[in-house]
Amino acid sequence: MRIIKVKDYEEMSRKTANIISAQVILKPDCVLGLATGSTPIGTYKQLIEWYQKNDIDFCEVTTFNLDEYVGLSFDSNQSYHYYMNKMFFSQINVDMKNAHIPDGMNTNAAEECRRYDEKIRSCGGIDLQLLGIGLDGHIGFNEPGTSFELGTHCATLTESTIRANERFFEKAENVPKYAYTMGMKSIMQAKKILLIANGENKAQILREAFLGQITPQVPASILQLHSDVTLIVDEASGKFL
Ligand code: F6R
Repeated sequence: MRIIKVKDYEEMSRKTANIISAQVILKPDCVLGLATGSTPIGTYKQLIEWYQKNDIDFCEVTTFNLDEYVGLSFDSNQSYHYYMNKMFFSQINVDMKNAHIPDGMNTNAAEECRRYDEKIRSCGGIDLQLLGIGLDGHIGFNEPGTSFELGTHCATLTESTIRANERFFEKAENVPKYAYTMGMKSIMQAKKILLIANGENKAQILREAFLGQITPQVPASILQLHSDVTLIVDEASGKFL
């Protein structure tokens, strides 16, 4: 595992964008795994800036997002479809036919999860997976206790995740209770993994995930067994690493 410690959020975002950009330059038709949340916003901004300067071209890139809330439509402004369009896709030249996010409106969970895994497989798997980490060690919506053996599945959100996501919704009751998420098995199949974190509040969970025991109680800990993981952490979050 490579640990890159940087000064602050801006540097974390620039370095992450550099790695994604290198991936796209080396393999223009690569498959990128993408995340939502606060952490990658600066990375997307930086990539958009380089796209506008003609330094990066996404026309052949395929993307797969980690997750989507169940029951939120594409145009609901809390959905991850909305987030990705607003923060990234609408500002670059990715072909939207190649930008995949689980369909939270499909009420047939088994069918949706099977379809998503099959689509990832048919595109040749993920070359580079971008990840954030939750305060409880979740990756995607793989909450503590989730089996490492799962592919894409329907997850029940924990209280801690509902509380952390409340800030994006008017009321806690409006935070969906379920999400479709790639499982840890799907994530571990990515050829390369890039996990990013910033802020003091992530320091303890990073210590548990990357210096502690490998256990489903800390979902991110399984990444210790992946052969190509890079962590980019700012000074505050990386203080124990
Ligand atoms: C997002 C996702 C989540 C977040 C995690 C950290 O698609 O799957 O696992 O990466 O909750 O979120 P932030 O970046 O908001 O701290």
